[in-house]
Amino acid sequence: MNLLAISGSARSVSTNTALLRGLASVTPPGHTLSVFDDIANLPVFSPDLETAPLPQPVKRFVNLIANSDGLIIASPEYIRAIPGGLKNAIDWLVSRDEIIGKPIALAHASHRGDDMLAQLRLVLSTVSTGFNADIFLRCDLMKKSPQEISRHFEKAEARQLAKTFVKDFIEFCGQ
Ligand SMILES: Cc1cc2nc3c(=O)[nH]c(=O)nc-3n(C[C@H](O)[C@H](O)[C@H](O)COP(=O)(O)O)c2cc1C
Repeated sequence: MNLLAISGSARSVSTNTALLRGLASVTPPGHTLSVFDDIANLPVFSPDLETAPLPQPVKRFVNLIANSDGLIIASPEYIRAIPGGLKNAIDWLVSRDEIIGKPIALAHASHRGDDMLAQLRLVLSTVSTGFNADIFLRCDLMKKSPQEISRHFEKAEARQLAKTFVKDFIEFCGQ
């Protein structure tokens, strides 16, 4: 499987992005997990911009989605909601074919953020019949540096949980 992991954070030292990189480090041989950490470069969505040619960053994003077998999304909560950048990225997909039926699962790098998670589950189950709320990985990594998070995924228990999450999602993508 070719998995795309989308970070909802534009921070250079994002815990959610680092979590997704941790998942890439446990992805089994024969499968790939690439991290998309570039939502800040997507222009603000408008239906006026959907006609060809798409803005270049959107074209790249849409192609990555099209060429993936499944999406893993990890995002912070901003003001009890989905960060604008991530919602904007999803808005770009909503009237297109690529997202319909795409398998999607959530990971989350904080013990907080349940309002955002509830909203994201609602949005993702609206845009894709492939959203699976039961496959979910939550790690308490808030305020940790990317280096600390990388080391976190070297620990046996954390590594095993992450491996199980990725394996379960790969199996789901294959169904
Ligand atoms: C503008 C802003 C608003 C935030 N609002 C919330 C919030 O409503 N609830 C919460 O639990 N954390 C909130 N946070 C904290 C972030 O969700 C938290 O630091 C998260 O772990 C950051 O993720 P990242 O490291 O991937 O960027 C907020 C942070 C910022 C910068």
